[in-house]
Order: sequence, then C-alpha cells, then structure tokens
Amino acid sequence: MRTDSVQSISRHDYRPYPYRITHADLQFDLQADATRVHTRLSVESADASGQALVLNGEDLTLEQVALDGRTLSPDEYTLTENTLTLAPGTLPAFTLEITSLCRPADNTQLMGLYVSGNSLFTQCEAEGFRRITWFPDRPDVMSRYRVTLRADKQRYPLLLSNGNLLESRDLPDGRHEAVWEDPHPKPCYLFALVAGDFACREQTIQTRSGRDALLQVYSDHGSEHQTEWALDSLVRSVRWDETRFGLELDLDRFMIVAARDFNMGAMENKGLNVFNSAYVLADPESATDASYHAIEAVIGHEYFHNWTGNRVTCRDWFQLSLKEGLTVFRDQEFSADMMTHGLPEAEAQSARAVKRIDDVTALRIAQFPEDAGPMAHPIRPESYQSISNFYTATIYEKGAEIIRMQHTLLGEEGFRAGMDEYFRRHDGQAVTCDDFLSAMESVYVRQNPGSTLEQFRRWYSQAGTPRVKVTLAHDAAAQTLRVTLEQRNPPVGIETRQNPPVEKLPLHIPFALGLLDGEGKELSLTHKGVKQATALLELREKSQTWTFENIAEQPVPSLLRGFSAPVIVEYERTPQELALLARHDTDAFARWEAAQSLATRVLLDSISRPESGSPDEQLLIDTWEALLQDGSLTAAYRSRILSLPAERELLEKTSPLDPLAVVEARRRLIGKLGDALAPFWMTAYEDNRIDGPYAPDAASSGKRSMRNLALLYLMAAGGQGGQELTLEHYDAARNMTDRMAALGALVQYGTPEARSERLQHFYTQWRHNPLVIDRWFAVQAASAATSLADVRQLMTHPDFSLRNPNRARSLIFQFCTNNLRNVHSREGHSFWAEQVLALDALNPEISSRLARVFENWQRFTPVLRDSLQQAWRHIQSQPALSSNLSEIVNKALS
Ligand code: ARG
Ligand code: ZN
Repeated sequence: MRTDSVQSISRHDYRPYPYRITHADLQFDLQADATRVHTRLSVESADASGQALVLNGEDLTLEQVALDGRTLSPDEYTLTENTLTLAPGTLPAFTLEITSLCRPADNTQLMGLYVSGNSLFTQCEAEGFRRITWFPDRPDVMSRYRVTLRADKQRYPLLLSNGNLLESRDLPDGRHEAVWEDPHPKPCYLFALVAGDFACREQTIQTRSGRDALLQVYSDHGSEHQTEWALDSLVRSVRWDETRFGLELDLDRFMIVAARDFNMGAMENKGLNVFNSAYVLADPESATDASYHAIEAVIGHEYFHNWTGNRVTCRDWFQLSLKEGLTVFRDQEFSADMMTHGLPEAEAQSARAVKRIDDVTALRIAQFPEDAGPMAHPIRPESYQSISNFYTATIYEKGAEIIRMQHTLLGEEGFRAGMDEYFRRHDGQAVTCDDFLSAMESVYVRQNPGSTLEQFRRWYSQAGTPRVKVTLAHDAAAQTLRVTLEQRNPPVGIETRQNPPVEKLPLHIPFALGLLDGEGKELSLTHKGVKQATALLELREKSQTWTFENIAEQPVPSLLRGFSAPVIVEYERTPQELALLARHDTDAFARWEAAQSLATRVLLDSISRPESGSPDEQLLIDTWEALLQDGSLTAAYRSRILSLPAERELLEKTSPLDPLAVVEARRRLIGKLGDALAPFWMTAYEDNRIDGPYAPDAASSGKRSMRNLALLYLMAAGGQGGQELTLEHYDAARNMTDRMAALGALVQYGTPEARSERLQHFYTQWRHNPLVIDRWFAVQAASAATSLADVRQLMTHPDFSLRNPNRARSLIFQFCTNNLRNVHSREGHSFWAEQVLALDALNPEISSRLARVFENWQRFTPVLRDSLQQAWRHIQSQPALSSNLSEIVNKALS
C-alpha cells in the first residue's frame, strides 16, 4: 500500500479487460483476526488473445491457486505485492480457484473487510475488494455472485450478503453458515457482507408492479427505537423513484446496516447498503432537524444508486460522476419533493428555494475553492493517482449541477425521456459519461432541430468555475434593453503551470434572467415577440447579446435565477439595488442571493477599513428589519435570508485569505444586528414557538431554524438578557435541534462559566450515545472560544479516538476546518500536520481528507502562507506516506 513512486493513471489508457468473470463463488470462514476466503471464478476469454490474466490484491496472504481443479505450483503464476498474474494460454473458458487470508482486525483503513464494534463489515468502492480476495478489481468486470458465509453463531448470529438468502444451517463447533445469491451481475465494488448481532426493523411493501419486497434496517441492539425514520425514508425513496422516474425496486429484499466506523456517508452495495450510523439513527431527543434531513437524503441517495450506479454502472473510475453527479441530482430533487409535499403553491416554491439555497451554499463552500486550487479537476478527471482522493465536491456536487443544467435545458419531461432512453440503451452495462449525454442529446435534438449538446460536453472536460460578466445597455428612446453576457474560463490548478497555456473553450451556459423596475415590480422580458417573466438565455459564445423590447426605464436585473449554472456572476451593483432585490425579487433564490450579497459587502467593507466600518451598515439593518416583518415569507426561508454568510464563504471572498479578519468582522456584525433589531428578534423568537410533539417536517423545522437564529442574534448582541434566554432555551429544549442551538450559541458567545456548566451537563446526559458525543466534541472544536490547548485537552478525553472516523471528524476536522480563529497560528498549523501524519498511519483516506483542508495555502496572507508551507513541507519530508496522501502533498506543493 505504501509506495514512494506514485503512479498516475490516465483516462485515455483505458483498455477492456481481456476476460469475463461470469460467476464468482465466494466462501468465507469469518474470524476477526484472520478470515479465509475461497474464491471460485468462472472465467471466459473475452477476446481469445491469450493475454495474461492479471488479478489485484492488497494485504492478502495467498494460500493456493488452482486452475480447472489442478493446484498450480508457484512457478505457474507470478505473484507481486499487488498482482497475481496467470497465463492461461488460449483456454476459452476455465475455472480459477484461489484461497487467501485477510486480517479484518488489523484493517484500520476501513477498506475491504474490517471490524467495527463486535461486527464485521465490508467497504469495497472504489478498490477495497482487492483487500478481500484476488480479483480484477475494476467496475467493468461484472459477475453473478454466490456467497457462503461461515462464522461462530454466538458472536455473529446474522450473516448477510447481497441478493437473496438461499439457505442457512448450523455447523459443528457452534458455527453456522448462510448462502446468498445475487441474481444481478455486478462489479465487485458493489459486493458486501456483514456479520454480527443486530436489531432489525422491517416492513414488506408492494412495488408498483405488485411484487412484495422486504425492506430491513439493521442497527446495534439498543438503538432499534432510532431506526423508524430511516425505514420510512427508505419507503419514501422507493415510492419516489417509481413515480418520478418510473424506476422500480428490482430485488426481493433490500437491507441497510448501520456501522459505527465508516469512512464516508454510506455505500450502495447491491441490496445490502452499509451506512455510517450517523445517517441511519435518529430520534427527536438525540437527532437534529439537519440530521433527519441528511438521513432522508442519504437513504434516498443510496437507494437511487440501485438504478443510477448499479443497474447501469461506470466503465472505469474516471466516469465516477456518471453515477455520483446524477444520483446527487436525484437525491436533491427527492428532498425538495419531500419538503414541498402537500404545501400550497406559494409555500412550495419557497420550500424548494430553501433546498436550493442550502445546496448552492454547500457547493460554494466546498466545491468553488476546490475548483480554484491545486486539486481542481473536471467532473470527469483526466488522471489520478489514488481514486479515493476523487470522491470530491466536484464529482458529486458540481456533477449534480451539470445534470441539473441538462434538466433545465430539456425540461422535466424531456429529462425524463432522456433517462428512459439511457436505461433502454444501457441497462446492465458499464458505461461512460459520454453515453449518458448521448442519451440526453437524443431528446435535445428532437426538441431543438439543428442544435446539439456537443458544446455542452465541455462541462465534462473543463475544470474551474466559469465567470460570467453581465453588461446592460438601456436605450430610453427605443425602449430596449441590451443584455450582454461574456464568459471567461481562466486556467486553474495544474493548468496555470502549463506551457503553452491550455486554451479553454466557451461553455454552453443556461443563464436565467429576470428584471425589476425601480419600485421592485417584476417586468416581463420580450425577446423576438416572446414574453416571459424569466428568460433562459443560452450562452454559447464567448460574448453574446440579447435585446429585449418595451423596457421603458433602466431596470434592475435579477441574475442567474435559481442558480441556473455553476458560475460566478460579475456585475457591479449599488447597495440600493441589492436592497431592492432583497425585498422584492420574485425569484426566491435570487432574492436570497441579493440579501447575502448586501451582507457580504458590508462585511468586506468592514474588513478593509476596520476603523470606519461600512457606510451601508444602516441599509443592511433596515433591510433585515423589513425582512423580519415580511409576513409573506415562510420561517425556513426567512431563517436563510437573515443568516449572515458563513465564515468559510466569506473567507473565499478575501484576497489574500484573511481568516482572523473574517471571524472578527462577522462576529461584530451579528452582534450589531442582534442589538439593533433586538425587539424584532424577540418577536420572531416568540412567534416561532412550537407546542406539541416533535416532527421533522419542513414547516416545523423551518420554525425551529428561525427561532434558533433569533436566539443566536440575541445571544450575540451581548447583553445579560441574551444569555439568560439561551440558558432557559437549553433547559426547556425537548429536542436536539433546540438543545444544540442553545449549546452552540453559548459555546460561541457565552460566559466561560455558563459554557462549561452546560457542556458538562450535556456530556453527562449523553455520554452513552456516540453520535451525540460527536456533536459535543464538534460544537467545542468549531467555536472561536476553543483554543488549540483546549483541543489538545479534549484529545486526552477517554471518549476520544483517532480510529473512529466520526470522532476524528468531530474534533480534529472541525477544529482545522471551522475554527478559523484558533487554527491559524504556527502551532495550529503544526498541529494539523501532526494529525495528518498520525491519521495517515491508520487510515489514508481520512488523512488525505484532512490534508486537503489547507490545499489552498498559497492564497493566505503572507505570515499564514509561510507557516502553512512549513507544515506542508514537514508532511512531505516524512518517509512512507500513503499513496493517497502523497498525491495530495505533491499537488499542494507543486
Ligand atoms: N458510492 C458511495 C456514495 O455515494 C461512496 C463511496 C465512497 N468510497 C470511498 N472510498 N470514499 O454514496
Ligand atoms: Zn453516491
């Protein structure tokens, strides 16, 4: 696994595998310390070329190899650390049997077969199957699996794998066995097994065509009362995919198992999803609204992979966004539909906008910086060293935006027709992003004769966030408005060092535009006789101009409505224009954007001239007041529009990056708004009280967010009253959302006594629930009131462990990512480097993620940049970095 010379793999080097593995029969003798795997493969030559048969393996001990029943001597195959090569000559078909050992208890990487708690789990995507047995570990080799699991019955009473349970029986010596068969051919990255003792919540449903399907959610004993929401979410996911996409569950049994130790969110193994317990377990006392919504989204996501990912999979890992971008788009739409379900039209629109706002905010915080840094890559990368470094915001979230643009261009019906065509063409295959786009294009060309999506394909091969500059020219005499859009796609990442510079071509960008008059009334846009409230401009050239008629006065443009493309808009606005849009824009997304831009402007002003502050501060206060009083807004929407942009979003807008200035400016402005509008916050606090039992629906969670936002402003205002109210709020809380909101406000803004007293109380109450203790670590780690010394102290807490990814994320990642005030010192930076190295020895996927927190080190202020560079160099100078981490370090320092 540890290599000094890291190899880069190129997309263009793809070659089909020369063999087919039609059947894989796996027998496991499961034991935590050493598991013996007997693999029997039915192999066919795919091209009769007699090429060598190369299998992948990692950290395995090979015991025996047999070909057509004859045991091979070691000189009949070639074994290296990571390959097993055979020369079967011109045999058209044969059986290959391999016996090997793997060591789950030593597997701290959590890839392959590993131990979590008292159970055994697998994680194979992307390249974990090779840590279980020798196999062509690539997604275009698809096989039918039959899996026999044998284990001690008392320790592992449940033995699960993909597909259907064929038989189970007891064996001598207290052992038992179960035989599973998956009727669907699949790539090995979708293989899974789970062995352990679990509680199960289940439900049988009828699928659309009237078949019975058993849905099951497994979790540790004692947490069965926390799986109701997960099972309900699964049922809703099944229904949604039937109605919105006409896609039916193709299995008799669909299982989800919660694991305490898990590298990511969840995994879509065919019929046997394995989940990070954080995305399964919820009850009102211990889970926040955000967790409820995340659980629903992730359950949806993994379930939707059953078609987009499993039935049609990726030919190679460069195509990862084929399944991930598409499936994120699908889970976003699912969540939006769940949030708007049953609401009257006006509220439904606002609820959809809230989802869009949250998704776009996440994109801007995580993906925009990635796309501007050393790891910048197109959604279909050209090369990689370690594929696990490419489970990125670009592949997932930008990938989803690129699918969303196709949806915008084709319309709901056209998009659905394109999806149907995609499945008609490719069901059961391992395909490419190009194949997907071609299916969509077959509909597009019917809708738009003479036009294609050829130019749109560039979104798949070009990295970087495009900039779109807007220029308006109003002609009062002719009553026309000329709108010019000009796109720039500057080089990013490695492109900036290429000589000659890469030439980036113009993209096909759907740009939604609206217009308001000086009073904030919406104008209609008439272009070539067609009149609309929102015009969808399809920008294809470097620069393009549209002329609109019957525009009497200079209008205020509402730009990139609904965030119709993942671009940065360049347009100079006056603060008055922003305030007008914030109050009146009919597009809820653009309206929110205007309010946020006004706040951003005030914040950046106060950073660039701390003495005088911003001249627009009063305008911001007045706008916030107007929004607080606007009765037409839903609580959820109001809580979004009245929040200040997150620290990390603001940080991206400073140049050079100046974290301390951002933290201070933002804290000051929250305090100021809290103080200036205190009576209104108090009213909002009172008006959004909810009596009755907890429910995570959009309306109730919206009220809680608004109420908790009001509380935060009051707390930040600094008076005695704010803290008293927050303490009362904490004590009166009957759900985790309110409880955490109060604790978070106290930890950020409270007095040291109040803070430590409630933290102690919280810990004592929740010490037995690891997911809640994660919150306890996280809320402290991210707080500006928590120093590096405090974090080091927390690391000595008996509940802290670097081995559990959720725990490492809650303390180390939270501190390094979100505690902008206290991580940015020489000591903070070397702490980060130290933790990256400590994690690398255990779990390279996690260490390289932590490393990436400071990949943009070159953009910081000189002092911080120097200190970050030293920390990076320290990492680079260490012997035996994992290949994952070397890739990141080399890119960051190149
Ligand atoms: N396919 C999984 C998902 O979307 C993620 C798997 C990531 N694997 C990894 N080693 N990072 O939800
Ligand atoms: Zn996914």
